[in-house]
Amino acid sequence: MADDAVNALFDAARDAMAHAHVPYSRFPVGAAIRDGEGRVHTGANIEVVSFPEGWCAETTAIGHMVMAGGRHIEEVAVIAEKLAKCTPCGGCRQRLAEFGTAETKVHLCDETGVVETVRLSDMLPMGFDAELSK
Ligand code: THU
Repeated sequence: MADDAVNALFDAARDAMAHAHVPYSRFPVGAAIRDGEGRVHTGANIEVVSFPEGWCAETTAIGHMVMAGGRHIEEVAVIAEKLAKCTPCGGCRQRLAEFGTAETKVHLCDETGVVETVRLSDMLPMGFDAELSK
């Protein structure tokens, strides 16, 4: 059932958030991607003392997906412990677009579940596409 699948993705994002390495911001984030084969890949944000060198939960999840052979994002759930609706940063929107489509669903969550679902094309209008891979 579709709702069960979304709830499972939310659970995976929330569980992933527990792995965040955030000694500097103290702002844990979790993300979970469902790929084209229905597999779930998770990630948390990982920070580095040289602050710009850290990276987001979505980026960790994308890395796990790619290393598992996944190349398509059907949907992604994002949760932050301290924000009711954590929207992906600009860089992550472009990374999600690399493997998503206009119809890829972005589920914005709080600690109780999905708060809002947005299409990726609404989240990244006019995103860069050099058509290098076409
Ligand atoms: N962060 C994410 O992991 N994902 C987002 O969508 C927004 C921001 C992280 C980056 C940094 O570790 C912390 O949240 C505070 O900005």
